[in-house]
Amino acid sequence: MELSADSLTRIERYKILAGLVFPRPIALVSTRSENGIANCAPYSWFNAVCEEPPLVMISFGPRTDSNTKHSLANILRTGEFVVNLVDEAIANGMHISSEEFPESVSEFTKAGFTEAPGKVVAHPRVAEAPVSFECRLFQRIEISDARDIILGEVVHVYARDGLVDPDTKRVSEDGYFPVGRIFGTRYCTSRHRFALPGDLPD
Ligand SMILES: Cc1cc2nc3c(=O)[nH]c(=O)nc-3n(C[C@H](O)[C@H](O)[C@H](O)COP(=O)(O)O)c2cc1C
Repeated sequence: MELSADSLTRIERYKILAGLVFPRPIALVSTRSENGIANCAPYSWFNAVCEEPPLVMISFGPRTDSNTKHSLANILRTGEFVVNLVDEAIANGMHISSEEFPESVSEFTKAGFTEAPGKVVAHPRVAEAPVSFECRLFQRIEISDARDIILGEVVHVYARDGLVDPDTKRVSEDGYFPVGRIFGTRYCTSRHRFALPGDLPD
């Protein structure tokens, strides 16, 4: 099968891209809204894309009522946010937090997450997450009225004890079970792992 991208509708292009490019890592973005309520929501058009400076990338579409997502509005207002990584233990809460709740409702409460204070940024992180990156807004790329790409500079890292070797900074796979997004309500684990021959740096 071949498809001309021009012949596809917007939703068809979304289905093709998001349905074929998987598993995608999930950023559980946490911010505090202007009313002081803690907000979090998952974003799977996400990745780590640069180490010098250390950058993550997240792509934001609009809410179903066409308004700006609360996470993006909070990032643009404050210039800061937190990316929490998602493992099996918090997958269900992450999924619950994706519902489009009003700003008066905290997704932390709905998902059963605990707020932990940020060290460098003024937003809360998810205490139950295996890893959290405190980020400063590095660059906003306005793709269209309906799409913004945010590059965030990671300024502070939290990793659950035992995940990162304090001396070598090597990450241990043991006990670390990130969850990926397939599409829609489908997710996958990262339990089946394998190595191929070669001599690449860890
Ligand atoms: C696993 C998952 C991944 C998602 N990824 C994205 C994404 O990459 N970009 C996006 O705009 N919305 C994404 N969403 C939808 C948002 O999480 C959802 O619209 C959420 O209600 C936004 O909340 P907010 O307005 O509090 O930021 C995703 C939803 C799920 C369940």
